[in-house]
This record gives sequence, C-alpha cells and structure tokens, in this order.
Amino acid sequence: MAASARFTASVVGGGAGGQLSLSALQASARFDLAAAADLMPEARRNLEEKYPGLQVFENHRDMFAACPTDIVCVSTYPPTHEEVALDALKLPLKGILVEKPLGHTAASGRCILAAIRERRLPMAVPHGLLAKRTSLEIIERVQAGEIGELKLVEIQCAGWDIINAGIHWLNFFVMLSGCEPVDWVMALCDAGTRTYRDGMQVETVAVTYAQTRSGVRVVMHTGDEIKINREGKSFLFRLVGTGGQIEFWGWENGYLLLNARHPEGRLIIPDEYPITGHRRHLENMAAMIDSGVPDYTVPESSLMALELCEGAYLSSRHRCQVRLPLEGFAPPAPSDWDPGIPYSGQGGGRDGRRL
Ligand SMILES: NC(=O)c1ccc[n+]([C@@H]2O[C@H](COP(=O)([O-])OP(=O)(O)OC[C@H]3O[C@@H](n4cnc5c(N)ncnc54)[C@H](O)[C@@H]3O)[C@@H](O)[C@H]2O)c1
Repeated sequence: MAASARFTASVVGGGAGGQLSLSALQASARFDLAAAADLMPEARRNLEEKYPGLQVFENHRDMFAACPTDIVCVSTYPPTHEEVALDALKLPLKGILVEKPLGHTAASGRCILAAIRERRLPMAVPHGLLAKRTSLEIIERVQAGEIGELKLVEIQCAGWDIINAGIHWLNFFVMLSGCEPVDWVMALCDAGTRTYRDGMQVETVAVTYAQTRSGVRVVMHTGDEIKINREGKSFLFRLVGTGGQIEFWGWENGYLLLNARHPEGRLIIPDEYPITGHRRHLENMAAMIDSGVPDYTVPESSLMALELCEGAYLSSRHRCQVRLPLEGFAPPAPSDWDPGIPYSGQGGGRDGRRL
C-alpha cells in the first residue's frame, strides 16, 4: 500500500471531542471525512453547518449500515464507548479511535482494547499531552535524569474531575514513570454539589494519591474550585526529583526547569507541532495502517490511567486503600472503626503501639 493511501472516516458523537476528530480528519491529507452520527437534532444541524458535505445520521447503527468507513472515531460519553466500539468492529475497519476515558470502568476499557487487539487493528486514544512538544520534551528530560530520580508528581486541576480531565494527567504520570505498575491508590471525593460531567457523576472536589511499585508518588487535586498556587494558571504540574524540579501548566506551551545547571530556573518554550493533537494521533494511526504494525503503547497507558481513576473512585466510595490491578479488588466489609475519635478501651482493635 502506498504511504499516501487515504482512508474514509466517520465519527460517532458530534460534541466537543467528536469535533476535534472531525476537524482533524477534514484537515488531514490521510483521510476522507464521510459521515457523523449524533443522537441530538441540534448537534446534527450544527455538524451539517460546520462540515459541508458531511453525511449526518441519527445513530451509529444507521451510519454503519449506510456509510461504512475505513476508520471510525468513537466520541460519545464513556458509558457508551463499549457498545459503539464493538459495533464498529463488525465493519471491515482499518483503524479505530476511541476517546479517553476508554470506558466508564477499567473492565469496559479492557474489553474494548482486547477486542481491538484481537483484530490487530491500529488504534488511537487521543491524549493531547502525548501529542505536544512541551509535554513530550518533559518526559524525555525526566527519563534522561535531568531532575535526578523522579519522586513525586503534584497535579492541581481547576474546574474538572478525575475521570474526564484527570485521566489525561494520570496518563501523563503513567508515561512519565515508564508505565511502571501502580501498587495502590487512595482518594477522597466530596460530592456536595451533585455535579455531573460528560455522562458521569463526578466529584465537587477530590484528592487522589497513588504510588508506583518503586515508590514514585502522584498526588492530584481536582475539582470545581481549586486554588492553583501559581497565579494565572488553571492547571499546574510539579515534578519533583532528587536533583531538580519541572513545573508546567497542562495544555500551555513551555515549562520551568530547575536543576544544578539552571539553579535559578529556566523557562523553556519549545516550538510546538503545527498540527492539532487529534490530527497527530490520527495520522500516527494512518502510519500504523501503512506499516501493518499496530503499537498499543498509548492505549495500554490509557487503560492504566483509567484503572487509577476507577481506583480513586472506589477508594472514596469504600473508604479504603485500593490495590491494583483492580481485577483483584473486593470492597472490604463496612467498618464501624472511626479514626479520629477517642478510643473507649473496649470493642477490640489492634494496639498500634505494637508495630
Ligand atoms: N481527547 C480530548 O482532548 C477530548 C476533548 C473533549 C472531549 N473528549 C471526550 O469525548 C467524549 C465526548 O465528550 P464531549 O466533550 O464531546 O461531550 P459533548 O457533550 O460535547 O458531546 C457529546 C455528543 O455525543 C452525543 N452522543 C452521546 N451519546 C451518543 C450515542 N450513543 N450516539 C451518538 N451520539 C451520542 C451527544 O448528543 C453529544 O452531542 C468523552 O469521552 C470525552 O472525554 C476528549
């Protein structure tokens, strides 16, 4: 197959995420954008206006029957990713994009990924930080030891939650720590405002804490009103190593490197890639189709991040430490032991002075 082969493409779900794929497909020389499906009439009207010539359908089944394409992008809410992706896999597909989070649970994400791997189908999971010069350069510097040994990643994230934005940040942590298995996760989610976002019930504010097998920690503060402790930023990452620190700000270009060579801190602003993250991920997938060699590094790292997200919610729900992998997790029996109240001297328990 010639390297310049073009692939027909369609998108299920025409909201913010779907339009990132639609615009990328429209702009790329590797794809012919053919169709989109959305349940909502208003969303369909919007797509027809924005993407002239696009065939628009009410649901993915009608679209798959009338307009089967080489590539399908699954850009609905996480609880429907599995149903839509498994239906798409019945087509003679050449590649598939599944939005993050792969599913609403790790089991659902695992099921999708297993079905795609079984067909050896190239796959894209468009984590933007893995398609940005700034964040990729940070990963390279950390892995080259420029801040010594990585010990702690602190994440501050305002206006968002663990499963919808936090998964991008935790995926970055997974890649930063070389996909090292995570031993456990603990979290507390305050649900005071009964907030939902992108088809999921989410927290008003939460703290998530996890530790890799070798002891690297991540602590992530998410929620509606988070004070970011660097003025003017909505997100903040602080990577702490034995020989320095890196600070950066989510989607923003540039980062602050502090180490023995730059004791005062140096602001580095790399030249960003000229194309969007979704287009880079989609064109990487086209290159995998050309070569016939699928690479599942990003999808696998996304699944690890999803396990962390679900582990955090389970930890908060069951008030316990959640050990990974999640497949082995069983919630403990509810406990009447209430840390922080005086011990009555009765009711059993363990003498904590005898370690
Ligand atoms: N990778 C990224 O940077 C990025 C950015 C934004 C959103 N996303 C992801 O995209 C997905 C969708 O989120 P969003 O922000 O686009 O939400 P959105 O609310 O903007 O749009 C979702 C759209 O999907 C439609 N829809 C829902 N279920 C459907 C179904 N079964 N069939 C057809 N259409 C359906 C809705 O009618 C709506 O128009 C989520 O998984 C989200 O995390 C990813």
